[in-house]
Amino acid sequence: MTHIISQITASLEKIQAQEIIEFEVLNPDLHSSYNGNIFAIRGKEYVYRGFKSWVDLAQLLGCKMLTPTKLTEHTICISYKKLNHDSSFHKSITDKEEKYGQNSIFNEIHKNEESAFIYYYLQALKNVKLDTRVRILNLGVNSGDEFEAIISLAQNISNLELVGIDYCPSAIKAAQKQFKEYPNITFYTHDINHLDSLNIGEFDLIISIGTLQSSNLEFNALLMSIVQKQLKQDGAMILGFPNCRWIDGEMVYGARVKNYAFSEMGLLYKDVVFSKKYLQQKKYRVTITGKDYIFLTATSIRK
Ligand SMILES: C[S@@+](CC[C@H](N)C(=O)[O-])C[C@H]1O[C@@H](n2cnc3c(N)ncnc32)[C@H](O)[C@@H]1O
Repeated sequence: MTHIISQITASLEKIQAQEIIEFEVLNPDLHSSYNGNIFAIRGKEYVYRGFKSWVDLAQLLGCKMLTPTKLTEHTICISYKKLNHDSSFHKSITDKEEKYGQNSIFNEIHKNEESAFIYYYLQALKNVKLDTRVRILNLGVNSGDEFEAIISLAQNISNLELVGIDYCPSAIKAAQKQFKEYPNITFYTHDINHLDSLNIGEFDLIISIGTLQSSNLEFNALLMSIVQKQLKQDGAMILGFPNCRWIDGEMVYGARVKNYAFSEMGLLYKDVVFSKKYLQQKKYRVTITGKDYIFLTATSIRK
């Protein structure tokens, strides 16, 4: 694999975004094995590697893996398409509130269709025993995708009261339209920095995904304030920390921070560990799960 990485890296340096490189490998469907085991076929030796290894490598090298095609009885063609890193919404320049608005590239992202996101989010909702939580607040709700999952999971959605807050006017407008038949779902266009002025009361469950680490918010102070003022003592919390980037249609694993050309997770771990310690101090049981999004789930031990 070491040799393959350097070969493919060198080939990718010579091509433009959207161009494709191809190579022939052993068809992994024909064997059940761990990566690296050698199979001799008609006098020729092949190293077994499963699809996951090829898909992972594609992402790590800034590519999308295309559907493999059969080349011979024992081999397939793997194709990597080089991603266009300039198409990331992270680089799109709009005003602060509309960075994640209806006209942004972010609006093309459907996180609920990403198995690595929705699987862990649903698991977190089950962990907090969703149906026992009546008042639910979502901070940084955008157009409300995270409420869709709640609607699909809740035994009886009309028993719940959902409140979503975001300072992006176009996203909130879209959310209001999307959930207009639910009188128990309310959205506010409002800055999370000034939550107190909304007088929204306390909640049984507070969800915030990909929001509290925003550069306009002070993570530690905000988290403590939310726990003290908006969370009921026997409430629960689900925090989602992005450990990925969205590039050219792909959810690419690994948090990115300024001044690093590679994925660096120090900031992510710092905020997750702070949240965990703080919530534990406040008598919450905390679990941390996930992959491309890290989910911190806190449930009160008072309950
Ligand atoms: C990365 S998006 C995440 C949206 C959604 N939770 C998701 O994961 O798809 C961050 C959201 O937080 C909102 N946001 C950022 N800072 C905010 C603030 N100070 N007040 C209210 N909303 C804010 C943005 O408008 C955006 O919709």
